Amino acid sequence: MPVYNEKVMEHFMNPRNVGEIENPDGIGEVGNPVCGDMMTFYIKVDDNRLSDVKFKTFGCGAAIAVSSIVSEMAMGKTLEEVRKITPALVAQELEGLPKNKYHCSNLGAQALNKAINNYLKKQGKAGESKRRRKDEKE
Ligand code: FES
Repeated sequence: MPVYNEKVMEHFMNPRNVGEIENPDGIGEVGNPVCGDMMTFYIKVDDNRLSDVKFKTFGCGAAIAVSSIVSEMAMGKTLEEVRKITPALVAQELEGLPKNKYHCSNLGAQALNKAINNYLKKQGKAGESKRRRKDEKE
């Protein structure tokens, strides 16, 4: 069993924002085909900010801790700020993950991004968002 640090253990044992949002503005689901773990994020968006974030994760301790910290990192942030949450930042916020558990930190950012894409698609803004991200890179 991997050795988790105190912060990871704390989020694993007491995960924040677990659950499902009724009538969410966006849903993002990802799975890791290697281990079979699944993560779903639900978001509410108000005035371009995440006013609520919840998740359901079926997975390892790291995946649960990652979901919990990602939900905290994203809460209240603008969509643009949430896009900048990378797996590396997630691992850093958790004060490190065992090497063989780094892949688990990818799921959080991926699921959240998918939820934002789902929201933008519903708003008919998917193209606009892609354009904006392209502009930002230029
Ligand atoms: S082992 Fe599958 S997400 Fe962690």
